[in-house]
Amino acid sequence: MVGLSRLPLIATIAAVSAQLQRPLGSPSEDVPDTYQTGNKPLIDTELLQSHISVESLFERAEALYGLAKSSEEQFGHPTRVIGSEGHRRTLEYVASEIDRLGDYYKSWTQPFPAVMGQIFQSRLVLGQSVPESASPMSLTPPTAGKEPVYGDLVLVNNQGCDASDYPEDLSGKVAFVKRGTCSFGAKSELAGKAGAIAAVIFNSNADGLSGTLGVPSPYHVATFGLSGEDAGPVIEKLKAGDVVDSTAFIDSVVNTINTTNLIAQTVGGDPENCVMLGAHSDSVGEGPGINDDGSGSLTLLEVATHLTKFSVKNCVRFAWWAGEEEGLLGSDYYVDTLPEDENQKIRLFMDYDMMGSPNFAYQVYNATNAVNPTGSEQLRDMYVDWYESKGLNYTFIPFDGRSDYDAFIRNGIPGGGIATGAEGIKTKEEELMFGGKAGDWYDPCYHQLCDDVSNVNATAWLINTQLVAHSVATFAASFDDFPKRETAKAAELYEQETLYHGRYLVR
Ligand SMILES: *[C@@H]1O[C@H](CO)[C@@H](O)[C@H](O)[C@H]1NC(C)=O
Ligand SMILES: *[C@@H]1O[C@H](CO)[C@@H](O)[C@H](O)[C@H]1NC(C)=O
Ligand SMILES: *[C@@H]1O[C@H](CO)[C@@H](O)[C@H](O)[C@H]1NC(C)=O
Ligand SMILES: *[C@@H]1O[C@H](CO)[C@@H](O)[C@H](O)[C@H]1NC(C)=O
Ligand SMILES: [Zn+2]
Repeated sequence: MVGLSRLPLIATIAAVSAQLQRPLGSPSEDVPDTYQTGNKPLIDTELLQSHISVESLFERAEALYGLAKSSEEQFGHPTRVIGSEGHRRTLEYVASEIDRLGDYYKSWTQPFPAVMGQIFQSRLVLGQSVPESASPMSLTPPTAGKEPVYGDLVLVNNQGCDASDYPEDLSGKVAFVKRGTCSFGAKSELAGKAGAIAAVIFNSNADGLSGTLGVPSPYHVATFGLSGEDAGPVIEKLKAGDVVDSTAFIDSVVNTINTTNLIAQTVGGDPENCVMLGAHSDSVGEGPGINDDGSGSLTLLEVATHLTKFSVKNCVRFAWWAGEEEGLLGSDYYVDTLPEDENQKIRLFMDYDMMGSPNFAYQVYNATNAVNPTGSEQLRDMYVDWYESKGLNYTFIPFDGRSDYDAFIRNGIPGGGIATGAEGIKTKEEELMFGGKAGDWYDPCYHQLCDDVSNVNATAWLINTQLVAHSVATFAASFDDFPKRETAKAAELYEQETLYHGRYLVR
């Protein structure tokens, strides 16, 4: 058992990681036989579920809120954003709780560099007007010298996904690009390569457009999103051959900090066939993130704790991702760096993000085999069957890249999960199905300071933790009824259809 409780400071995690890291999925040779074959009873879903208690979950939530408060000095309020004391202590807490379970688990950290952006000020002027919808993209670089830059606006051809779409004389000009097909980051990069001093990406419908440039590129230029409504009159002028001069100003920084994923895997169970589940350990900077995703992180801890009473046939691997809120950084890093043979050992991945929204719906990701790796649909149907067996209602929600399952799907690993809703609005029909209040957000405190212990609905959290326990128990006992893994083919349809990468639009 690796002593994760030794986790000292974020900055030194990378240094100790060499000692802590073990190859994925290969238990050490000195594993006690009891954990391999078990004089413990074989995992049983009803028994595992019976150990879940709402008191224990809320005790953990109170503890987590206390950890978030340790960021107050630095941030002026509780938060568990990566790089904060609150996040460091969250990692320490999860690691020490796993440590307390003795040698049932082996666990390790996986440090990685995380890109974080901050935008301090921005302004866009197009001709005579200051469009209200102009919104700097997340992870945008600043304008040159963090000063306003001036240049004529140039309409880029087609959707600006090909270098040939960009006029040759773009030096000192501002590129005006339509949304669609390729990512905002690709457009910003092509504009920068063509010499533009800034870029404005306008929506293909009337709505505003805020998104992220994603992984930084040295060619990215300061980039705004703009609503189709604000763009309309400007496009007309440009098409009529009128000159539209513009001023762009963004003061921002893009930093790289060190943070880490935490992984714990049962020592027992077949290491060639693992059931994997994850939640994210970090919150946004605005608040303590007790529902998002303290609830999922603590659900995993609670299930991991009670699982130790049983023996398992298949290995179970728990992950606490970091940097989810910055764009799924931890889960991306994890899956993207998995060698092919390790990828194949993961039979499926289950995502548990936001388990107890106050105005909840029981949401199941609509992950189908038509679009996702084979097995995703069987997983979806397992959640459905469970809710139905309890006489509970559920809804299907899009499986569109907004949480940590994304990298798994893109790398051929079946996935799915459940959630209870973020900034979406509860419908009248859903009020009848789940209670709560139609017209309000599922989580009225989503990404805000008020995402505290009172922001988790006890009923929803308990029910969903029981379902998470069921999901673990089911696959820890057997994969007999679950499709074999396919090779890690790229999920082409999924890639074409997903617009999100985490909470941000990427295209
Ligand atoms: C992150 O870790 C790397 C490798 O240990 C180190 O070189 C770098 O200075 C660290 N960066 C920060 C911001 O601490
Ligand atoms: C679920 O996804 C499939 C396609 O993969 C689609 O045909 C179906 O309409 C979706 N169901 C819901 C309720 O969104
Ligand atoms: C399920 O939804 C229906 C309305 O569609 C409602 O009548 C019923 O009470 C709901 N069941 C539960 C357990 O809330
Ligand atoms: C949790 O949600 C249920 C259903 O909407 C509601 O009856 C209950 O009062 C909620 N609990 C809390 C503590 O808000
Ligand atoms: Zn989340």
